[in-house]
Amino acid sequence: MKLILLGAPGAGKGTQAEIICKEKNIPTISTGNMLREALKNGTEMGLKAKVYMDAGDLVPDDIIIGIIKDRVAQPDCANGFILDGFPRTIPQAEALDNMGVDIDAVLDIEVADEAIITRMSGRRVCEKCGSSYHMLYKQPKVEGVCDNCGGTLVQRKDDHPDTVKDRLNVYHNQTEPLKEYYSKQGKLLVVHGQEEVEDTTRLVREALEDLQ
Ligand code: AP5
Repeated sequence: MKLILLGAPGAGKGTQAEIICKEKNIPTISTGNMLREALKNGTEMGLKAKVYMDAGDLVPDDIIIGIIKDRVAQPDCANGFILDGFPRTIPQAEALDNMGVDIDAVLDIEVADEAIITRMSGRRVCEKCGSSYHMLYKQPKVEGVCDNCGGTLVQRKDDHPDTVKDRLNVYHNQTEPLKEYYSKQGKLLVVHGQEEVEDTTRLVREALEDLQ
């Protein structure tokens, strides 16, 4: 299965991807996590991306398309993958089509902007493996410690309310047009993501059932 998760920042793409990739036994490719990893390792690409990410802007298409092209060619992607955070612009979607990647479905997780802003303030992420938690809605077993790898949980720099508002504007202007792009291809599945994590997971599973 080749799946794209679409949705505003904080809609729950990463949270749902983590659950579905285990069930389907396919990797999740998160461009956000890849960029943060590159930054942590001090690579030239990571340092270049930092300026855009801190401001809530999108990293230039050529950088992102390059890393996706390399990643989907890896052997662990042979049986499928979940794309979380890519594509985010029409040129990125066109580049994916041009790579010959035949996507099965695009799952759009819909959450209102007001709920997003509240959600983001409580998000904590593992600085080691990137797993995502929430201070109220998805608590780790031990406060401040990642369940998966024992890493320290921290707040993302771009989760500051002002930056979240900028990211939402960028989403509405540059990423939302992808809904029409994939709807025209007959691949768009829309899921309501405003309720609890488990409710969204149930809706995601139902939406994916027809693809089995
Ligand atoms: P990226 O890391 O992809 O950020 P994003 O899309 O803004 O998505 P988030 O990770 O913020 O949210 P999410 O939808 O995964 O939500 P989550 O599951 O964590 O990108 C960061 C930056 O990198 C971009 O701004 C850009 O600069 C750059 N970038 C990345 N990809 C790019 C691309 N393709 N092109 C150009 N630039 C790119 O959930 C959020 C919180 O809510 C968590 O705390 C979670 O526990 C909680 N939660 C989840 N679901 C629920 C629920 N149902 N109820 C209550 N709480 C919930």
